[in-house]
Amino acid sequence: MPLSCHAFVAASLDGFIARPDGGLDWLEPFNAAEEDHGYDAFIARMDGIIMGRGTYETVLGFGHWPYRLPVIVLSQSLTVDDIPDSLADHVAITDMDPAELHAALAEEGWQSAYVDGGQVIQSFINAGLLTDITLTRVPLLLGQGRPLFGPVAGDVALTLLESRSFPSGIVSSRYAIARP
Ligand SMILES: NC(=O)c1ccc[n+]([C@@H]2O[C@H](COP(=O)([O-])OP(=O)(O)OC[C@H]3O[C@@H](n4cnc5c(N)ncnc54)[C@H](OP(=O)(O)O)[C@@H]3O)[C@@H](O)[C@H]2O)c1
Repeated sequence: MPLSCHAFVAASLDGFIARPDGGLDWLEPFNAAEEDHGYDAFIARMDGIIMGRGTYETVLGFGHWPYRLPVIVLSQSLTVDDIPDSLADHVAITDMDPAELHAALAEEGWQSAYVDGGQVIQSFINAGLLTDITLTRVPLLLGQGRPLFGPVAGDVALTLLESRSFPSGIVSSRYAIARP
């Protein structure tokens, strides 16, 4: 079976996934609402996680490692020596580009990958490798921050597969992404 790649990401109404310094404090009141936006069901279907260095460094700062799945960090600047010993069995670093990594993981038998981090999601979209994106749209304007989306080589058509709104004001929508 081919490897499909999926994003599940929360963004402010104006399209940011983090404050300029990477801060995620603005998500806390919405996490505290204890609504089920589908994350647990989503991650249960994944074989592993591909994330950018920016996301990896933020998660490291949490002080506890929240993933049971294998994590591959895309980075041109980190090496295996940068991984704390406690995570050596859980985290790998690679400098492959999305297409090379996709081929390598498919060869390893991965069938579904969770792709995380704004820049990395953008590069998977531009490589035509992102199958779908579940966007948890938070009713808040941040004004500035790290953008979910960025430049694209040409228009990218999305198909709305499902959408749900929650009492907190969050709207969760899943979009399929057409291959270029
Ligand atoms: N709201 C949410 O749901 C959500 C989800 C995920 C992340 N976040 C937050 O978003 C922030 C990180 O996102 P981000 O967009 O700044 O960074 P990112 O996508 O997590 O990481 C980008 C970094 O990954 C490395 N990289 C290697 N190959 C790459 C490639 N092909 N394409 C793109 N990057 C590649 C580069 O670092 P090197 O210089 O090392 O090569 C690049 O600077 C964090 O604060 C995180 O907490 C929020």
